[in-house]
Amino acid sequence: MFVEKNYPLQRHNSFGIVAKAQQLVHITSVDALRQAVADTRGTALDFAQHPPFILGGGCNIVLTGDVKALTLKIAILGKRLVAQTDRHWIVEVGAGENWHDTVAWTLEQGWGGLENLALIPGSVGASPVQNIGAYGVELQDRFDSLDGVHLHTGESFTLNSAQCAFGYRDSVFKHASGLGLLGKAVITHVRFALPKQWHGELGYVDLQRKYAAFLEEKGLQANKISREQLSNTEHTEQLLALGKSAGLLPTAQQIFQWVCEIRRAKLPDPAVIGNAGSFFKNPQVSPEQCADIIAREPRLVHYPMPDGSIKLAAGWLIDACGWKGKTVGNAGVYDKQALVLVNKGSGTATPATGGEVMTLAKAIQTSVYERFGILLEPEPVVV
Ligand code: EPU
Repeated sequence: MFVEKNYPLQRHNSFGIVAKAQQLVHITSVDALRQAVADTRGTALDFAQHPPFILGGGCNIVLTGDVKALTLKIAILGKRLVAQTDRHWIVEVGAGENWHDTVAWTLEQGWGGLENLALIPGSVGASPVQNIGAYGVELQDRFDSLDGVHLHTGESFTLNSAQCAFGYRDSVFKHASGLGLLGKAVITHVRFALPKQWHGELGYVDLQRKYAAFLEEKGLQANKISREQLSNTEHTEQLLALGKSAGLLPTAQQIFQWVCEIRRAKLPDPAVIGNAGSFFKNPQVSPEQCADIIAREPRLVHYPMPDGSIKLAAGWLIDACGWKGKTVGNAGVYDKQALVLVNKGSGTATPATGGEVMTLAKAIQTSVYERFGILLEPEPVVV
């Protein structure tokens, strides 16, 4: 096992925060990972006593100082079709592959299913950890199984979807207690089940707008299908019926393109302005709590969930408290989407520090709590 000392992490975290890994090992294969477990067992670095820090694309972390734990930089590559069933292509991808490149590659092969998740920053290995989701699709909807290595025993294991215990931005890999695998396992490969009978997921309003604009361009009167009188599902169905009548059902490539355009319009590119995507989860509240807030704040953006609870748009709550564009040092609230905190010092000699980001995050939490009685939960892992 080759350990690098004082490894600079600024280019390995999407916030672009300056910090070092005191000790870092590049993991390029399952064998190398198992070897690392064997080499450290019984030493001062024993993973059972000192959980290592697992670094994927570094797109969902805030570094508040140098990382003291041994850092495992996961760089296991490879993408291939491993099986097929009547209904699915089963595609296996190494944890170190880039997420967006993987989505683009599956579409090039003619396998739709991941297009709504285009342009999400990060690595494939991180995707099940927080069950990434966007525009009406979550990773769990396209998941088959994953392989990992247990850091205490060095043994390989495979988990199916139920064993991953997926929830909203949540999985077994985010919890340490009970059967939780936080700090105890590394994901090495993820297998996706991509539908052979593909159909587009257009339930999200921004995507409906893109599709309607596309149909209008082709001379169809899609904008006449008014959203006002219809439920969201009815609206999507009517647009699809209109498109079908003219042989213009959307393709997976088109949806991929539209998702890229929507994201580029409202989310900052981490290569230009450091950020970690949404900084807080969208809170879930009871219908009573929601009604109570609406009585005071009639414009509250809220979505009823299948389980009867109500999800609130954290971006709206933060925006309503006047945070858009505000800063603490070089950490700021993105001016086009209040849910995203950004590094205003990206590319300069004074990038934001993790401390500034967390001071800003805490101030936002306090003001949202004081106004709405809701404690926002950060989404990225604070290291
Ligand atoms: N809104 C505001 N002001 C803002 C931001 C949002 O009023 O500054 C309102 C908007 O009007 C909109 C609503 O809040 O009606 C929701 O905003 P948006 O559509 O941008 O989605 P979101 O709930 O903020 C979630 C995910 C994103 C994902 C999008 C699209 C979470 C925490 N975030 O954002 O995921 O791309 O939906 O599906 O669930 C990420 O996790 O890093 C991420 C970017």
